[in-house]
Amino acid sequence: MKTIADLGDLRGKRVLVRSDLNVPLDGETITDDGRIRASVPTIKSLSEAGARVVVCAHLGRPKGSPDPRYSLRPVAARLGELLGQDVTFVEETVGQVAASAVAGLGDGDVALLENLRFNAGETSKDEGERGEFADALATLADAYVSDGFGVVHRKQASVYDIATRVPAALGGLVQAEVDVLRRLTEDPARPYAVVLGGAKVSDKLGVIDNLLGTADRLIIGGGMVFTFLKAQGHEVGKSLLEEDQLDTVREYLERAKRDGVEIVLPTDVVAATEFSADADHEVVAADAIPADRMGLDIGPESGTAFAEKLRDCRTVFWNGPMGAFEMAPYAAGTKAVAAALVEATKGGALTVVGGGDSAAAVRQLGFADSDFGHISTGGGASLEYLEGKELPGLSIHEEKN
Ligand code: 3PG
Repeated sequence: MKTIADLGDLRGKRVLVRSDLNVPLDGETITDDGRIRASVPTIKSLSEAGARVVVCAHLGRPKGSPDPRYSLRPVAARLGELLGQDVTFVEETVGQVAASAVAGLGDGDVALLENLRFNAGETSKDEGERGEFADALATLADAYVSDGFGVVHRKQASVYDIATRVPAALGGLVQAEVDVLRRLTEDPARPYAVVLGGAKVSDKLGVIDNLLGTADRLIIGGGMVFTFLKAQGHEVGKSLLEEDQLDTVREYLERAKRDGVEIVLPTDVVAATEFSADADHEVVAADAIPADRMGLDIGPESGTAFAEKLRDCRTVFWNGPMGAFEMAPYAAGTKAVAAALVEATKGGALTVVGGGDSAAAVRQLGFADSDFGHISTGGGASLEYLEGKELPGLSIHEEKN
């Protein structure tokens, strides 16, 4: 796969960079700028090389037409602050306005196009429609750099199709992410534990299936854990439950037992009367959740036990919060796991935090990026990588070269 160095002298060249700038927003306020920070080094190095840098990205999931709630304008401002140079915000993706904005760039200048998903061609399943949009993007570029790791699992115009239309290379962020994830899949140092949380077990089926063949321990919390507890025969009250996944989860539990993979579930949970920070809540045994309560975090005994299970690990991957961490009464479990990863990192383990939510959670809880071995910018992308799936945004670069 080609790297930026393979693109040759970029001075004066228009370089289209696909970044993942999909950051959480509260109105127009960016609540976690991790992905913008992670995108800066590649953009900066291209600008320093004299390229005319045209950054493109998406925000949220607008439905293929402009929607001001998903404008990248606030992101352009933050990117400019972090780069220490003006970033021209272009109010459309392709078209006359974009063409003249790009034509007006000088060597080393940076522009950010409006949200790619304001154009239906970006995410279309129709090859022709997607290709048309990729053609339009290609008119803005002499070269293309794929640096949005968080979208490499998407077969989309700016990720996949564009790479066949102009000389293309992988950016440093994508390369660094792939290097780390490769260490998790190719002969990881053992014991290797994976901590999974988040709301839905159905989002994680593929990865659990695959990890049962590679990890030594699977530690499970978050909303998805109640489907596991129910599969073990416990009542879970009003907790999140995916009834239609019970058989699959039972099969996983049996397979894990047979193959010697340790599955660690919480023994206590914080159970609340409703999904609210003000709700009445108490710690109860995981096998005695009252019928009128919902589990919103793992309990303190489980937090300690999970940390204990991570202590001797030499490789840890974590995706998904342990509870509704954004509400203070339900943040302790996520904090306990984050602290255990920090300890494991200090002890020399390779620790990887995967995904938008988990990355935002550790930062919101006061941890620094440098406390962990690697904080991935890709949630779905890192899970699909660990699942062993082919990622279109990577394979298109392999096919070409
Ligand atoms: C993410 O947030 O995981 C990436 O930016 C991809 O976003 P998507 O799931 O909307 O494609």
